[in-house]
Order: sequence, then C-alpha cells, then structure tokens
Amino acid sequence: MKNLQTRKLLPILALASLFVKISGSVSLHPVLTGPDMAYLGSRVAFRCIAPDASPPVTYELMGDGGVPIYTGTDLQGDQHASFFLKVTATSEGSYHCKATTGGSTGVSNIIKLTVVTPASNTRVTSEPFPPVAYEGSRIILSCTITKGSHLSYTWLFNRKEVTSSTSPFFHLSGNQLVMEKVTPEHAGHYSCIAWSRVHDIRRFSSSTEIQVTVKVYISKPRISFSIFKVGDSYHGNVTCWSTRGSHPVNFSLSIDDKEVASTTATESLAAWFPVAMVPGRDMGLAQCQAKTEMQELMSEPVTLEVVPVGGDVKVEVEYLYRADSKLAVARLSCQPVLPHFALADRRRILILPKLGPEESGCYRCRVRDSYDDSGPWVESVAVLVKVTDRILNSMPRATSSTETPPKVFMSTIEVITITFCCFLLLMMVVYVACVYRMLDRNRAPAHISTPNSDALPLSAPALQLGSEMAATSSIDCDA
Ligand SMILES: *[C@@H]1O[C@H](CO)[C@@H](O)[C@H](O)[C@H]1NC(C)=O
Ligand SMILES: *[C@@H]1O[C@H](CO)[C@@H](O)[C@H](O)[C@H]1NC(C)=O
Repeated sequence: MKNLQTRKLLPILALASLFVKISGSVSLHPVLTGPDMAYLGSRVAFRCIAPDASPPVTYELMGDGGVPIYTGTDLQGDQHASFFLKVTATSEGSYHCKATTGGSTGVSNIIKLTVVTPASNTRVTSEPFPPVAYEGSRIILSCTITKGSHLSYTWLFNRKEVTSSTSPFFHLSGNQLVMEKVTPEHAGHYSCIAWSRVHDIRRFSSSTEIQVTVKVYISKPRISFSIFKVGDSYHGNVTCWSTRGSHPVNFSLSIDDKEVASTTATESLAAWFPVAMVPGRDMGLAQCQAKTEMQELMSEPVTLEVVPVGGDVKVEVEYLYRADSKLAVARLSCQPVLPHFALADRRRILILPKLGPEESGCYRCRVRDSYDDSGPWVESVAVLVKVTDRILNSMPRATSSTETPPKVFMSTIEVITITFCCFLLLMMVVYVACVYRMLDRNRAPAHISTPNSDALPLSAPALQLGSEMAATSSIDCDA
C-alpha cells in the first residue's frame, strides 16, 4: 500500500520539482540603476541587482545593440554587480543588464543615458556686425558656442542680468537677445553665459563683453557767424552746429550755393569756418550742410553781412509789475536801428531793480561795433525814468493775486487815449531828438548810465513779465 502510494507520488514530485525549477528561472528579475544624464568626460556607475539570486550569478551590462559591454560575476552573494564607465560621445544610448544563475537568465529595465557636452568658447555675435545701429533699427545678439549641448542662456547688460520681466525692451529667444527698436538706452556692454545642468551640477561658459552703440540722428544744423578785428583787417567766423546727434558729422559751408569748406566733426557736433568779411558789405548767402552716412541736412541760409552801428539808437523803458500791481523793476533796453541785423544781447538790457527817487532821472545808452574796440560810439537821446505815484496810479489796476498772472482791464476809450498820447509824445521826442542831434552832436553826456555796468543784475527773477503790463515811456529829458 505504502509502495503504491510512493509510486503514485513520484510523478507529482517530479512535476513539482520541475515547477520549482521553472518558477526559479522566472523569478530572476534584475534591476538596473544608474544616471539618465551625464557630462561628457565624467565617470558614471551602473548597478545591476538581482535579489534572491543564489551565487554564482553572472551579470552583463548591455548597450544599444544588445552586445555585452561589461561582464561581472558575483561569487559572494552580494546580489549585485557595479559597472563603471567613462562617458564619451558614443556613451549615449539605452542600457540594460542581464543576470544569469544556473540555467536561468533575467533581463532588467532599460535606462536611457543622455550625454551632455558642456559649453565652451562662448562669444557674442551680432547682426549687424559690428553692433552699431541707428535709433529705431533692430539689433540681434546671439550667444554662440563652438561646442555644447542642452544649454540655457543668460544675458548680461552692463553686468546686470536681463530678464524678460525686468527689461521689456529686450526679447529673449533661444540663444538670441533681440532689440526690435533700439534707443540710446540700449547702448552699453553685453555678454552672455551658456550653461547646462546635470542633476545638481552646473557648468558655465561666459563670453567676453561686446559693446553696442546706438547712433542718434542729427538735428537740422544751425548757422551763425561772428566778426573780429585783427590789426587792421577783419575776420569772419561761421559756426555750424547740430544740437543732437552722433558724430562723426561732415559739416560743409557753402556761400551762394558753392561749397567753400568742409570738415569732419569727430568729437563735437560743431564746426567753424573762417570767412572773409568786410563790415558793411554783403558777402553772400551762407548755408551749412551736415552729412552723415544716413542723413544730409541743410541749415537755413544767412546773409553774411555785418552792418556797422550807425543811425539812430534809442532807449526803451518798460515798467514791470508784480502780480499785486506794485511796480517791481524798470527795464531799459538799448535799441540801435539796424536793417536785418540780429544784435547780440550783450549788455543791451539794464534792469533797475530798486525804484526810488535816486533811480529816477535821465538815462541814455551808447552803442558801438562789438568787433572794433576803437570804433566810435553812437549815442541815444536820454529818456526820463521817473518813479512817482503818478506813474503808478496811471497804470491799470491788476487783480490782487500772487498765484495767477495779472489781468488788465482797460476800456477801449482808455486804450485809444493812451495810444494817442503816446503817439503825440513820440512825435515830440523825434522832433526834439532831431533838433538836439543837429545842434549838439559831440556834447559830453550829462547823466549817463551806460548798460556797461556789470554790477546790475541782468534778469529779474520771480517776476510776472506780462507784456500788457509794460508801459513804454519816451519822455525826452532835454525837452
Ligand atoms: C569761432 O567761433 C567759435 C565759437 O565761438 C570759437 O570756438 C572759435 O575759436 C572761433 N574761431 C576763430 C578762428 O576765432
Ligand atoms: C566725411 O568726410 C570724409 C573726408 O572728406 C570722407 O572720407 C567721408 O566719406 C565723409 N563721410 C560722409 C558720410 O560723407
């Protein structure tokens, strides 16, 4: 009975042992661990672990083609094998491992290894090159490398990091920094950093700085001239200038449409040209041209003519009032009567800031050519500057306000009356002046305060200079 039982059990046992053998081979599940990213040239380790495998176990690391790269045997029962490899350009790819023990073999998971090449030889290139552009045009800077992969880029402008949020005038895209419409604020030094990261390790490569220049369009040139005397001869000096723009600018001077001189202004926006000049003679129509690679602009023309002082000179008096209608200052200006000639304003205006009895009196001015220190003076007739209640009261009342400019309320009748009186006075002045000048040309001035006094202030701050508040008085002192 027992024998029979044993005989019946034998095939079952055999099946069971076969089952154990089969299940043993199926349960060999090696696991591969290792990096998915590594820098070129670095060393990495892969580990193949086969838990519960009884030694000896043979481990193989396999590459893309299913070819074993490394083989190791675990004799001690560590249940794993480590494979060290130096990362080269060909190391990139998929890896898995195989564990074999007895007759059974297990295949692991797959790890894809990406090889990262650190950036090297980073530099900034530009379009246009060199990075010089006019305001409003586009400049693109590119961060270029000779080697590198998996890179990020950081831009520095004048050593400060550029980000899209802090600098809306920059557009960051890939390895490029785009300035769509440059303004002078974009000018400066730029550099870039190309960098990569593998897990916690970063590798940087910085470029050198590149200087971006933004050129500004020049403004319409202006022209002016002066004359000076050297010995017995006169020299003219024509100035051409632009108020804004980038140099270099080529300035040229033409007289009567013929170019007579040209020069390149490299450090300023102005040029000077010597010209022949004779007082009293029209030397022609002068015009400046300013030329850059982008622009060609002409100034307004001016007549090269210096009119010597002669004929009549007169003093005009203006009384200027404060907002509270108190008389503040008297402003005397010396007016030579010259045809189409702009007088330099040098010492032409005399301000009487204090108006008391001492300041009342007769004033006259004299004029002579600024280019000739030995030339003759031409003298005006004297005018009376009188500070009395009558003048004050005769002035129209202004609204009492220190904030707003004074307003004048005058009836039409008043205006007509005042105008008529002024006209009468003026006629008298002209008449008397003529008589005076005919009778006594060389008489020494009795009471002259020339505008040459530098001690007097030439401007009166904090005044409301309403021209409608000005009274012009031409009372002849000698009448
Ligand atoms: C011409 O005028 C300019 C500006 O006033 C001055 O700088 C320059 O020296 C003058 N040139 C001559 C030759 O006097
Ligand atoms: C300015 O003048 C220089 C010298 O005459 C010349 O070489 C240059 O081409 C000129 N530049 C322009 C923009 O005209």
